[in-house]
Amino acid sequence: MHIPLALTYDDVLIVPRRSSLTSRSEANTRTRLTKKISLNIPLVTANMDTVTESEMAITMARLGGIGILHRFMSIEDNVEEVKKVKRAQNLIIEHPYTIDPDKTVGEAKNYIAEIGITGLLVANGDNRLQGVLSRRDFLFASDDTKLVRDIMTPREKLVVGDAYATFAQAKQIFSDHKIEKLPLVDHDDRIVGLITSDDIKHIIEYPLANRDEDGHLVVGVAVGVHGDYIERAQELVRAGADVLVIDIAHGHSDLMFNAIAKLRDAVGDVQLIAGNIATAHASKELCEAGVDGLKVGVGPGSICITRIVTGCGMPQLTAVMEVAKVAKQYGVPVIADGGIQKSGDIVKAIGAGADTVMLGSMFAGTTESPGVVMTKGDKKFKICRGSASFTQANKRKKISQENKSLKEVVPEGVESIVPFKGPVEDIVVQLVGGLKSGMSYTNSHSIAELQRNVEFVRISSAGMKESGAHDVQAIT
Ligand code: XMP
Repeated sequence: MHIPLALTYDDVLIVPRRSSLTSRSEANTRTRLTKKISLNIPLVTANMDTVTESEMAITMARLGGIGILHRFMSIEDNVEEVKKVKRAQNLIIEHPYTIDPDKTVGEAKNYIAEIGITGLLVANGDNRLQGVLSRRDFLFASDDTKLVRDIMTPREKLVVGDAYATFAQAKQIFSDHKIEKLPLVDHDDRIVGLITSDDIKHIIEYPLANRDEDGHLVVGVAVGVHGDYIERAQELVRAGADVLVIDIAHGHSDLMFNAIAKLRDAVGDVQLIAGNIATAHASKELCEAGVDGLKVGVGPGSICITRIVTGCGMPQLTAVMEVAKVAKQYGVPVIADGGIQKSGDIVKAIGAGADTVMLGSMFAGTTESPGVVMTKGDKKFKICRGSASFTQANKRKKISQENKSLKEVVPEGVESIVPFKGPVEDIVVQLVGGLKSGMSYTNSHSIAELQRNVEFVRISSAGMKESGAHDVQAIT
């Protein structure tokens, strides 16, 4: 039997070539997550319960990538997480919350606390603007029995915009008048929208943010192939999810094809990514089943023990190459998922044909990842847990109230601690900086050029040793 050799990131290096790039800023990292969704940087956070909930997804979308929310929670909680991302940033809030001027200050305070915002437009039944109730108005309102109309900033003192205000006009109005909220009204003074200073600030601060057609941040969510997944998918799409990731350990399976067909029926042409797979055959069959993206990686993840437990898997560089070479023929983008330990691995993954990379443990332990910071001595940590770990199985059992005995669980992942790393933005800056340098070494102005220009050489363990800092004691 002929046994072919399969390789991973550390087995190879990329051959440098003459470059016309004079600065890293000439390297454009825009890429495709799916057939219809583009990202400004090729980074995707893993749908693990210790990596991606709404806080991570909001930050990643703002920085130019995307977060894939995990599914290990109730449908209601999952929907709320999607809504949090969608509410985090607006161009225009089309249906702003309003309150009647004859409600009491106490009622207004309760309403604000319930919906989690800082101010309200004031309008009566016909939606005509009467005033604005802002943070400042509440500051001195100690009598809760007073009426909203008595403490609001009244209509005649308000600066308003019209329904067709452009971003540039709105920015100018905010800067001229130092206001927090700009209500948009039609010729009858009826409210047609709202722009807030926070939204303007975010748009200026995060020029690479990935937004949907309505100006909201993009977000993906994972779904499984069992139980309530169809209902979950429908609710998530209704809440605004841009892409569903059908995520199972062995994505080249009848369960997957069945789920793709059912989900297409249930949620129409919403973008669907399928995974995880590791072969050209799986790539071909899933592309022909009509998916919009593929996720590659069987066992490369930092917390994975699939290869140890099952004896199955594929070293990640070869897996990406095999899947991508077929996916390209179908125009289906590929995510290289798992095993990324350093920025050079991202350059190699894209050079091998991936369009984006998914990271788990590198983003676990950041300020934005779910979970508490633990302290041991003078060191801080967070938990990073495999989705197929024993603890995760236990948690899942509680959520779904399954009757399955935990004795039957055969974990394919571990639970671990990772150092607390601070804001995820700091890591993203390093990773994207490394990627852009790699693009410069390969004379690649774009991700497509990088995919074409990369030429790999296989290296020995001595070559690998030579690659890191050696024979010195590194101090930074
Ligand atoms: P990294 O290396 O970035 O990998 O931490 C993240 C990816 O690992 C996968 N994953 C698992 N694989 N058992 C596995 O075999 C698990 O318990 C497990 N949990 C996560 C997943 O693809 C993730 O994106």
